[in-house]
Amino acid sequence: MLVFATETSCDETSVCIMDKNKHIYSHIVFTQEAHKKHGGVVPELASRAHLEILQNITQIALKESGKKISDIDVFASTCGPGLIGPLLIGSTFTKSLAIGLNKPFVPINHIESHVLSPTYNNKVEYPQVCLLLTGGHTEIYHVTSKKNINLIGETLDDAVGETFDKVAKLLGLSYPGGPEIEQRALNGDETTFDLPAPLINEDNLNFSFSGLKTAINHIVKKNSLNTEFIANLSASFQFCVSKILIEKVKKTLKKLSEESVSVKSLSIVGGVTNNKYISEKFKDSFQNHNVNIFFPHKEMMSDNAAMIAWNCLNKNIETASNLYYKANPRLSIK
Ligand code: KG4
Ligand code: ZN
Repeated sequence: MLVFATETSCDETSVCIMDKNKHIYSHIVFTQEAHKKHGGVVPELASRAHLEILQNITQIALKESGKKISDIDVFASTCGPGLIGPLLIGSTFTKSLAIGLNKPFVPINHIESHVLSPTYNNKVEYPQVCLLLTGGHTEIYHVTSKKNINLIGETLDDAVGETFDKVAKLLGLSYPGGPEIEQRALNGDETTFDLPAPLINEDNLNFSFSGLKTAINHIVKKNSLNTEFIANLSASFQFCVSKILIEKVKKTLKKLSEESVSVKSLSIVGGVTNNKYISEKFKDSFQNHNVNIFFPHKEMMSDNAAMIAWNCLNKNIETASNLYYKANPRLSIK
């Protein structure tokens, strides 16, 4: 069985051709440049760019894979959550191919695909705790199987990736902010600024990052943006974020253990997992916790169509296919 999948929920336009044995014939991720100068994603620009790029990269993917469009058995696309314009373009494009070729169309949940992404390259054991760190979401899931994914904690305001992007903007760095801050932090001293870690001591599994962003805004206003200052603040910020994330995951493991759930694995997914400082901190902090830590394959960390294809291949195509499914910007897992 050969799947053709598209991902267009935000500012990455991506297509993937994968078979049921996990073989990737082609995977193209095009990161739209149009947003850089705006310091964040402009939905209308993203929609237009998806429309222009999708057709081209589909043709390139078919050529690269040595397949014809008629060889594809099932079509899948992200149908939410995300920006409605980009979702409509990706899903309508992909549905059109399915209609034209009289093949099934499978609507796919973007967040569920991030959560399942580590199962592509790891033998993940359940029960599992999954920490999802993207530009729009910061969530903790208790996962008992690929089909049973339960939300148990989330951010009350900004997401981690969004906070990286906003702090980068305050520091005069370009979008996306995550890689910029990680790079600057390499030359900084993380003990320079003692930043607030909201909700860290509260007995719940929720996050809050807006106070941290505001604190950084106040510090930025009182200083000049020289290289050393940017490096030190980037390092202190990254230290503070990882401290919050690690503490909340520890609380999660403790809470589940009190409920007699013996968690076997911890997976960390989404664009922020590209951050080596954060992933190393997690590995160090949980080495004595009796849980295996899993990350997605590098290609499946940031938004990509391979995780959409992989999610589709894990479904029963007959029951999951639905040509009339409507894209939903607020789609949740259940
Ligand atoms: O999962 P993703 O590609 O898209 C969404 O579903 O939102 O995540 C994008 C987010 C952006 O906010 C970006 O700044 C962040 O991931 N990101 C990083 C790094 N690379 C990407 N954050 C921290 N460190 C990085 N190296
Ligand atoms: Zn994503």
